[in-house]
Amino acid sequence: MNDPSCGTVLVAGSANLDFVVRAAHVPAPGQTILGRDMATFPGGKGANQAVAAARAGGAATRMLLALGNDAFADPIEASLRAAGVRMDILRAKNEPTGVAFVCLADSAENAITVAPGANTTLRPEHLPPLAGVSHLLLQLETPLAVVSAWAAAAHEAGVTVVLNAAPAAALPADFLEAVDILIVNEGELALLAGPEGDLDNRMRRLGVAMVVVTLGARGCRALVHGDVIVQPGFAVDAVDTTGAGDTFCGTLVAALSHRLPFDTALQRATAASALACTRLGAQAGVPAHDEVDRFLSAPPPLAPLSAALVAQDIQT
Ligand code: RIB
Repeated sequence: MNDPSCGTVLVAGSANLDFVVRAAHVPAPGQTILGRDMATFPGGKGANQAVAAARAGGAATRMLLALGNDAFADPIEASLRAAGVRMDILRAKNEPTGVAFVCLADSAENAITVAPGANTTLRPEHLPPLAGVSHLLLQLETPLAVVSAWAAAAHEAGVTVVLNAAPAAALPADFLEAVDILIVNEGELALLAGPEGDLDNRMRRLGVAMVVVTLGARGCRALVHGDVIVQPGFAVDAVDTTGAGDTFCGTLVAALSHRLPFDTALQRATAASALACTRLGAQAGVPAHDEVDRFLSAPPPLAPLSAALVAQDIQT
């Protein structure tokens, strides 16, 4: 699948081992609930996105990540390697591998707490040389100033900078100036752009050339050089939404690195993310490239759009 004429996708960011407990629902603040089984899965937004770019997206993919000198690092490395991701690993001396505690509800929703550990040791100077890199894909589970410095360096080098602004955080204006494509969910968009106006107004206010807002089961909406693109979601029986957004990001960037049109890239990313929700585990759930092809050749019905979104679609 790797086309040597296409650029490499470089993901720089977090890697965690996910400790997942399944339960009837996620606990409310102050509440203790009894869950069921516990399992570990390779995770972390950065590593999930790298696996998605390589496996679901079929792109030549590299990742800069930091791991501890401990056994939690092993399954993460193995998962990235199995997906075909070339790794630049910083081995932290005094920090353990990052971990995430995931409560996975029977509704397929989750609540996640991350102890970032080694992820906090990444620095601006760790970004590898960018020769051959077409897209740099970033998230916010590593220190904000470091992610911002990576974005600035890549922007300066003419690399397309893609930021998945998750977990939600306020961003300095000069950081966003280095970003070509911003991917956010509705909560992240409201934090960055303020709550006023509809989704399109909010995306426009950010001043980024291309903005994608993911809408969960409802699909996504994008503003691409001023034009709005709407991609409805695909109706699937979801069991685990952990990493679905990461699968979306990695698959989207891989498709763009293959020079697919933006609307086609959004459709592939939405399909890969829907498939990921039907399986347990963040990286374990990422589908293969040909599974995405098969899914799109006989897709399930599109998920219904909410009344608010239909109203927006009519406006635009
Ligand atoms: O986006 C899902 C990811 O968030 C999980 O894999 C967990 O590690 C946290 O980083």
